[in-house]
Formats: sequence, structure tokens, C-alpha cells
Amino acid sequence: MEKLPMPRHIAIIMDGNGRWAKKRGLPRTAGHSAGAEAFRRTANYCRTLGVEYLTVYAFSTENWKRSEEEVSGIMKLLAKYLQEALRDMEKNHVRFRFFGDLSRLSPELRRLCLDAEARSSEYHEVQVNFCLNYGGRDEIVRGIRAYARDVQAGKADPDALTEEMFSHYLDSAGVPDPELVIRPSGELRTSNFLPWQTVYSEFVFMDVLWPDFSPADLDAAIAQYHGRNRRFGGV
Ligand code: IPE
Ligand code: IPE
Ligand code: MG
Repeated sequence: MEKLPMPRHIAIIMDGNGRWAKKRGLPRTAGHSAGAEAFRRTANYCRTLGVEYLTVYAFSTENWKRSEEEVSGIMKLLAKYLQEALRDMEKNHVRFRFFGDLSRLSPELRRLCLDAEARSSEYHEVQVNFCLNYGGRDEIVRGIRAYARDVQAGKADPDALTEEMFSHYLDSAGVPDPELVIRPSGELRTSNFLPWQTVYSEFVFMDVLWPDFSPADLDAAIAQYHGRNRRFGGV
């Protein structure tokens, strides 16, 4: 079996912030702050490794079920993080894209997202896709709505639709599917993350909590990936 090349695209479900905080007797928000640091660390390490795309799950369409206090804490942290990222952008040459329905975010946060996308659109070293108010089923339904509008406008023919054409109606338009999906925190599920894009991804589930996730953990996940035999339905 030939060794697989380095994945071009790694996707991560950044889970376990709450448990990390609880173990330390800290409020859940402290776990989310530590999780933001883990994201910074991991994104930098991906850049060193030459990974081209990093997609991270930061807030799901289901996460609104949490207390108002936790949700507003997360939103505040995201705004702070994005402001810092905008400052560092010129230095790091990271391209930002956002997956998810941004219309439910506050106007300030939405503007920061759009600003980050616009100001980084010329960078090509590494692309971070930040999933914010993201749900995989919601993404597909929004894609179907956009497609149906094109049909109504006479710009698309349903009988001619292919998988490849439909993928351009998704948030991930133009981004290759992730070869590797990592879920820390010990949970063995995908929680509505990238259902369309991951049908042939390799999954690595790890017991580490996201705020503790280190470059060594990423190395270990990639090593597992390299041990897999990808057949894509062939032999
Ligand atoms: C992931 O950590 C962050 C978000 C979902 C926003 P959690 O907050 O889900 O942490 P646990 O799963 O409760 O430990
Ligand atoms: C998935 O984690 C969403 C994010 C990491 C943003 P959750 O903590 O929301 O998932 P469940 O509830 O354990 O499935
Ligand atoms: Mg969780």
C-alpha cells in the first residue's frame, strides 16, 4: 500500500471546551477562551505542515439551545478573536471564509466576518473555513433554495443537475472535500458537520479535550490517516 500524501484539507470539530473548564472548576466561557487559543495554535501548525485548507466547527445551528449567558459569551469571544485575526492577517497570510448562515449573527459580528473574508481574499498560503451558525442540513437546504431560484429564473435546468454542479450552491463552493476529519472530546458522532463533503473522508476520533489539543495530537491524527486504506468504493 502506497503511503498517502499529506491531506490538503483537514476539518476539525472543536469540541470539549465545557468539560475542560468543568474539570478545572472554571465557567464554561473560560473553556471557550482556551479553545480559541487551541484554534490559533492548530491553524499555525497547519500552515507549517503545508495543509492548504483547515475547516473548523465553531458554533452549530443547534448551539443556540445553550443558555443566553453561554451563547453571548461565545459571540463576544468570536468578535474579539476576529478583530485580532484581522490585525494579524497581513502577517500570517491566512485566507478566511465563513460557512454557515451569518444572517442570524449580530450586525457587528457579521460585518467582522465579511471584512475578514474581503480583506484576506488575495491570500493563498492557507485557507481557514470558519463554521459559524453552521449546520450541514441547513447548508444543503440553503443551497436548494438558491438552486430553485436559479431554476425559476430560467438559469438552471433540473434534468442537467450533477453532484459537481450542486456543490457550487453550498458554502464550501470551490473547496476540495476534506480528506481527514478530527473530532476531539471523545464523542463518536458528527453533530451535523459537513454531511455532503465528508462522504469519503477519513474520521479520527480522539479523547483529548479541544483546549488541550496540541501539534502532537495533530501529528497523531495525521499518522492514523496515513495508515488508512482509501478505496472510494473500488478494490
Ligand atoms: C465546543 O465545546 C464548543 C461549542 C460547541 C461552541 P463544548 O462547549 O461543546 O464543550 P463540551 O462538549 O460541553 O465539553
Ligand atoms: C459540535 O459540538 C459543535 C461544535 C463543536 C461547534 P456539540 O458539543 O454542539 O455537539 P453535541 O451536542 O455533543 O453533539
Ligand atoms: Mg460539546
